[in-house]
Amino acid sequence: MLEARDLTRVWGKGDAAQTAVDRVDLSVGRGEIVAIVGPSGSGKSTLGALLAGIDRPTGGSIVAAGARIDQLNDNGLARWRSEHVGIVFQDFHLLPTLTAAENVELALKLKGQRRGRRKPARAALDEVGLADKVGRLPSQLSGGEQQRVAIARALVVAPALLVADEPTGSLDQSTGHAVFEQLLGLRDRGTTIVFITHDPELAGAADRIITMVDGHIVAEERVR
Ligand SMILES: Nc1ncnc2c1ncn2[C@@H]1O[C@H](COP(=O)(O)OP(=O)(O)OP(=O)(O)O)[C@@H](O)[C@H]1O
Ligand SMILES: [Mg+2]
Repeated sequence: MLEARDLTRVWGKGDAAQTAVDRVDLSVGRGEIVAIVGPSGSGKSTLGALLAGIDRPTGGSIVAAGARIDQLNDNGLARWRSEHVGIVFQDFHLLPTLTAAENVELALKLKGQRRGRRKPARAALDEVGLADKVGRLPSQLSGGEQQRVAIARALVVAPALLVADEPTGSLDQSTGHAVFEQLLGLRDRGTTIVFITHDPELAGAADRIITMVDGHIVAEERVR
């Protein structure tokens, strides 16, 4: 499903250059759930962004959902994301001029669903507890509510690959755990899931836990 080889991302240039992801090799099987853990600044979000195709590596290769994504141009990469990837990232924003419902419907539209988008979009927002907020713009929602809209967007399309960076980080524990269960439920619809977390309990729900330190994978633990 996903094969990264020698994956590298250097931020900055010259003396200020910093290697956030340093020659990482990673394979994830179809339907597998992988958690990425590690200290702050270890490169987790940078790696997640590379795998989701919202950032580009400075070295190495990634094959994901059938495409060599490091070789796609910007349009090709955007199309690949729309067709195959669900992204729940804190700084991968909702479109500000669209309501919660429209943001979720757009994901279906971009994936090629021509009609009947309204009902599943509402159902997904209902699932994450936002039935009464469907008409709100992102600016009229709290951080945790915006995060749940992003989760609904992933739930509605059941993408081949879901990449989530602390997907429940802005939510209280009980809402967070409930929504997290829904995200993991995507596996039953064929989704391969990579998520980043600081919460050992959430990490324990994965098939495999990968620990990053200083841009390297330093440990891999198979949970089940
Ligand atoms: N846009 C950027 N420009 C420059 N450096 C960056 C950028 N994003 C991240 N970095 C640097 O890359 C390193 C890895 O950052 P990253 O955000 O991947 O860490 P992380 O493991 O997700 O940390 P956290 O747990 O705090 O979210 C850090 O040293 C960070 O300062
Ligand atoms: Mg991070």
